[in-house]
Amino acid sequence: MKTFDYTDLNSLQELSQYLVNQCKKTNCNTILLKGELGAGKTTITQNIAIQLGVKTRVNSPTFTIAKKYTTTDNYFLNLCHYDLYRLSGKQELDELGILEEINNVKNVVVIEWPELIVKQIENYILVKLKIESRKRVANIVKIEV
Ligand SMILES: Nc1ncnc2c1ncn2[C@@H]1O[C@H](COP(=O)(O)OP(=O)(O)OP(=O)(O)O)[C@@H](O)[C@H]1O
Ligand SMILES: [Mg+2]
Repeated sequence: MKTFDYTDLNSLQELSQYLVNQCKKTNCNTILLKGELGAGKTTITQNIAIQLGVKTRVNSPTFTIAKKYTTTDNYFLNLCHYDLYRLSGKQELDELGILEEINNVKNVVVIEWPELIVKQIENYILVKLKIESRKRVANIVKIEV
């Protein structure tokens, strides 16, 4: 497990670089971002997109739930970004086809509010975000079921 202090927005580059490198190193293409409202999940995803050379702006997929971006990285070709906060239930979850995107090793898949799908994923990097008074702390663990 690794811990990052991400209180400073500038530290997000280091954090997202670490996450992308870990994905490549450990053959894992799924990053789950857990943390309260406003913890910084979308902001971290935007920084991951920068690391992967995504040229379009990455917005919060709160209303659309799913967004897919083309990267300019030569290892991961697409960034799939999900926000499951407003998901209505299991049927809607299945319709999103997240597991199919995870099965494509050329995708990197980032999921905000992953609680509903976590049991179906076997190999992921879990990022637990906490705001403690004025400090923001990210705990990162690799999970293999
Ligand atoms: N490391 C940080 N330091 C300071 N401000 C931050 C940091 N990360 C995010 N913020 C700010 O906090 C606000 C919320 O961030 P963000 O939208 O990324 O949170 P979120 O976890 O995705 O929220 P939600 O649960 O609604 O999806 C934004 O205004 C963002 O600029
Ligand atoms: Mg968000």
